[in-house]
Amino acid sequence: MMKLFTQLGVVIAVILTLGASAIAADGGNPKKGKHLYKKQCKACHSVNSEGPELTPMAKTMGQWDRFFERDQHKSKPEVFKALSEQELKDIQQFLYDHAADSEQPQTCG
Ligand code: HEC
Repeated sequence: MMKLFTQLGVVIAVILTLGASAIAADGGNPKKGKHLYKKQCKACHSVNSEGPELTPMAKTMGQWDRFFERDQHKSKPEVFKALSEQELKDIQQFLYDHAADSEQPQTCG
């Protein structure tokens, strides 16, 4: 009987882990995201540009998710409106994967 409960516990842990990763990994392609970030974001987010200098590790994974899901570039909405849903997902994935608290924080985009 104890063994059955242990196995059940493992199954539940696996389901929870998969569920948690599915929330953030929204089907974005981080390789495309990196390319898009350089093309669509860096011009305004480097030193001496219109917006503040920004790198993936400027924010945590949770902050990037909140930015893409809630803020949606509120200070300049036309930036996000010009991009497709998939392009935004790709960029979000790239930034998320290299956020400050990710396994591979990255300074350069
Ligand atoms: C046309 C110029 C422009 C482009 C293109 C642009 N941004 Fe911005 N961004 C801005 C400006 C201006 C602000 C507002 C800065 C402020 O409020 O002082 C801003 C703010 C932000 C912020 C909030 C700043 C912070 O420190 O929290 C984030 C995050 C951001 N942009 C991400 C992006 C991403 C990701 C892209 C590419 C999809 C992008 N931006 C493309 C101009 C731009």
